[in-house]
Amino acid sequence: METLVDSFGRQITYLRLAVTDRCNLRCTYCMPAEGAAIVERKELLTFKEMYRITRVLSELGVNKVRLTGGEPFVRKNFIDFIKMLSFNDRLDEINMTTNGALIAEHIEELEKLKVKTINLSIDSLDAANFAKITRRDVFDKVWDTYELLKKSSLKLKLNIVVQSGVNTSEINDFVALTEKEAIEIRFIEEMPFNGVGKRATEEVWNFNKILNEVKDGYKEVEKLPVLKSSTSHTFRVKGFKGVFGIIPAYTRTICHDCNRIRITSTGLLKNCLFDEGVFNVRDFLRNGANDTELKQLFIDLVSKKPKDGFVAEANRLKNKNVSESMSSIGG
Ligand code: 5AD
Ligand code: SF4
Repeated sequence: METLVDSFGRQITYLRLAVTDRCNLRCTYCMPAEGAAIVERKELLTFKEMYRITRVLSELGVNKVRLTGGEPFVRKNFIDFIKMLSFNDRLDEINMTTNGALIAEHIEELEKLKVKTINLSIDSLDAANFAKITRRDVFDKVWDTYELLKKSSLKLKLNIVVQSGVNTSEINDFVALTEKEAIEIRFIEEMPFNGVGKRATEEVWNFNKILNEVKDGYKEVEKLPVLKSSTSHTFRVKGFKGVFGIIPAYTRTICHDCNRIRITSTGLLKNCLFDEGVFNVRDFLRNGANDTELKQLFIDLVSKKPKDGFVAEANRLKNKNVSESMSSIGG
């Protein structure tokens, strides 16, 4: 079988697909309060196009897909798309990242599909702080979803974007959740993808600072083995049921065994979170490309995957800083 291997020998087996750029929340680290740039509907990939792209990639060795957004459940009939994707016998796992505000009623259905893991974004355990971060009053809904997911057969990971002075005092409250629950929580370094650019903060909450904060709260923190191509380093407080991870999204120490590519909601292929998009697959499809041509395109594009996120960032055009919104890249 032909596979997707880059010039550093990394094989791509994981697609992160953004199904929409729209969102029902307005998290401060992701979008501006008003006037979030969204594209016209006809610019978005259709489900059929997404299915076809995924199918072709799966014939090149991609066996795992993460569905993201924006908020994936904002896209109309999103569940039908997951059903469609579940028919692809080459996929082992379909996972998704969601803010959880719209999914409570779909959980039973998801359990029956090829969905394995839900990454639930929850940046604060305090309703008022949560509302400040997301600019919407939905904490109770998200918490209900959390409770339901815990009871479900789906694997649950909680995503927390660590924001200096905003939720850093809650880091150990999150770790406390892992005492009795077999969940995984993941602290993510904040990146400048908010539609505006890097936010000025007094302190830099990078990987080491986050880890030290936990170690200040808990004496016995054990490091767990690093899984291949994992985005996070995982730890456990001794005796706790669950684990916590830290994702060096910004300090980028995980690029060496990256196995991922991204397709944005408008069909832009990204070899790296930090590149500006290398090719519009949507237009290629709409111009009538057949599957053989599509395969060759992916092989060629992946062969140019940059060594790491720093190289990718440096390659961006000078007038295009890292400031686009995560909602259009795919969280
Ligand atoms: N920095 C880090 N992660 C982000 N996400 C969105 N914006 C950012 C950012 N600026 C990711 C988080 C969040 C998901 C929706 O997207 O994982 O939980
Ligand atoms: Fe929506 Fe996620 Fe962005 Fe928040 S971070 S505004 S939930 S896409």
